[in-house]
Amino acid sequence: MDENNQMSDKNKKDWVKPTITPLRSGLLNKFGKSQNVGWVEDIDGIPITGLIEKYKSPLFVVSEKRLRSNFQRINRAFTSRYPHVLFGWSYKTNYLGAVCNVLHQEGAWAEVVSEFEYHKARSLGVPGHCILFNGPFKNRTILEQAVKEDAHIHVDHLDELFALEEIAQAANKKVDITIRLNFDTGYTEPWSRFGFNVESGQAMDVAWRIHSSENLNLTGLHSHIGTFVLEPKAYSNQVRIMCGFMDEIERRTGSIIKYIDIGGGFASLNALQSIYLPPEQVVPSIEQYAEAVCDTLLELTHEREARGVQRPVLVLETGRAIVDDAEVLISSVFANKRLPDGRRAVVMDAGVNLLFTSFWYNHSATPTRFLSGKPEETVLYGPLCMNIDVMRNSVMLPPLDVGDALVFGSVGAYNNTQWMQFIEYRPNVVMVQKDKIVSVIRKAECLEDVTSLESMPETLKIPFPNGEPDNLLSKHT
Ligand SMILES: Cc1ncc(COP(=O)(O)O)c(C=O)c1O
Repeated sequence: MDENNQMSDKNKKDWVKPTITPLRSGLLNKFGKSQNVGWVEDIDGIPITGLIEKYKSPLFVVSEKRLRSNFQRINRAFTSRYPHVLFGWSYKTNYLGAVCNVLHQEGAWAEVVSEFEYHKARSLGVPGHCILFNGPFKNRTILEQAVKEDAHIHVDHLDELFALEEIAQAANKKVDITIRLNFDTGYTEPWSRFGFNVESGQAMDVAWRIHSSENLNLTGLHSHIGTFVLEPKAYSNQVRIMCGFMDEIERRTGSIIKYIDIGGGFASLNALQSIYLPPEQVVPSIEQYAEAVCDTLLELTHEREARGVQRPVLVLETGRAIVDDAEVLISSVFANKRLPDGRRAVVMDAGVNLLFTSFWYNHSATPTRFLSGKPEETVLYGPLCMNIDVMRNSVMLPPLDVGDALVFGSVGAYNNTQWMQFIEYRPNVVMVQKDKIVSVIRKAECLEDVTSLESMPETLKIPFPNGEPDNLLSKHT
C-alpha cells in the first residue's frame, strides 16, 4: 500500500451497519426526534472510565459541588426576597448520610417523617431542636423522644394530638406544636389525607382544641401541596390560604404563629413521562417559585410589624429541586438485542431496582464517548428478570457496544431511598468532593449484607437432609 492509500484509509469513516428507519406521519413534531446525541466523559473533572474501573458499574455519583451550589442558589432566591427563611432537608428525598451532612453544613435543618429518619438525623449529629418532624405515623416512643428533645412536631391527626397532650402532661411541659393543614390551592390535587382540612372548619376546631390545652401551644402551620408542582401560582395561593388561617387563629385565640412551613414540591430539571416539552421549557426557575412565595408572604404579613409582631419564619422543605441533578447513575451495556417489532433493545446493568423514578421520568441517558452511527429508537432494559424493568421505553441512540456506559441524569431524588435490594446487589455510591477527591459514601452490597439479618431454624439448616433429589436430567436419554 503506498503512502497516499494509507492516508485515504485513515480518513475513512468507521463502517456502520445500515438501518432502515420508518417515517411515521401524524406525530407532533414533523422533523421527528432530535438526531444529535452528545456525550459526557467526566463528572466534575473525574473521567468516567476511571470511575468505572475503580468502583465498578453500575455506580451512583454525587457531585458535592453541585449539591452545595443548588442549595446556595435556592437559599439565596428566598433569603434575598424575605427576611426570615429556614430550610429543613427532606430526608426521604435522599438520606445518604454524606448528602444530609452537606446540606446541614449549608445550614439546613432536618425534616423527617418516621422513627427511622428521626434516629438517622440524630445519629448524624443533628440536635432535636433542629428537627422538623412530619408524617402520619409517629409512634409513642419516638414522640416522647421528640418532645424531650424539643423537636418541632407537625401534628397530622387528632390521635397524635391527644398522645402529645399526654406526653407533655407527663413531662410537666408546655410543648410548642405545629399543625399540618390541607386545602385546595386550585392548582394541585389536594393531599387531603394529611393533616386537618381548612375549608371544612376542621383545622380551626383543632386550633381551638390546642388553645384549650394546658400543655400545648400552637406556634406553627405546615402544609405540603404536592410534588413536582409546575405552577408557581399554586404557591402564592398556598401562602395566601395559610396566612389567612394564621390571621384568623391569632385574632380569635390570641396565639402567635412563629413559622409557616410550606413543605416542598418545586420541580427539578427532569422529564416527566406525561409531559411532551423538555424540562428546560416547562420547569419554572427557582426564582419564579421564590417570587410567588415571598411576594405574597411579604404582602400579607407587613401589618404584623405595625403590631410589633415579627413576620413568621418561612420554612421550606425543598427536596428534589436541591438534590436531583446533583447525582447521576452510570450504567453499562450488557447485551444488545432486536425486538420482534424491529426496535433495538439494550440490556443495561442497572434497572428499576436502582432507578425507581424511571417509572415516571424519562431520565436523560447520555453516552460516555462519541458514538458513530445513526441514532435509532432504542429500549433500555435493566438486568432484572422482570418485564417491568425498563429504564427508557424509547430513546434515540446510535449503536452501543457491550461495555459502553450511559450516564442517567438527575437521579438524586427518591432513588437512594426508594431503591430495592431485589434480585441484584446495590452498587457503590461515590461523592466527588473538593480537589477532585472521590469518596465512597455507600459501599456496594455483598451476600453477607443482604443475608445478615436472616436466621435459620435448626430444622432447616440442610437443604437436602435425605440426600440430593434424583438427577432426572442426567438420566435423560
Ligand atoms: C412533607 C413533605 N415535605 C417535603 C417533601 C419534599 O418534596 P419535594 O422533593 O417534591 O421537594 C415531601 C415529599 O413528598 C413531603 O411529603
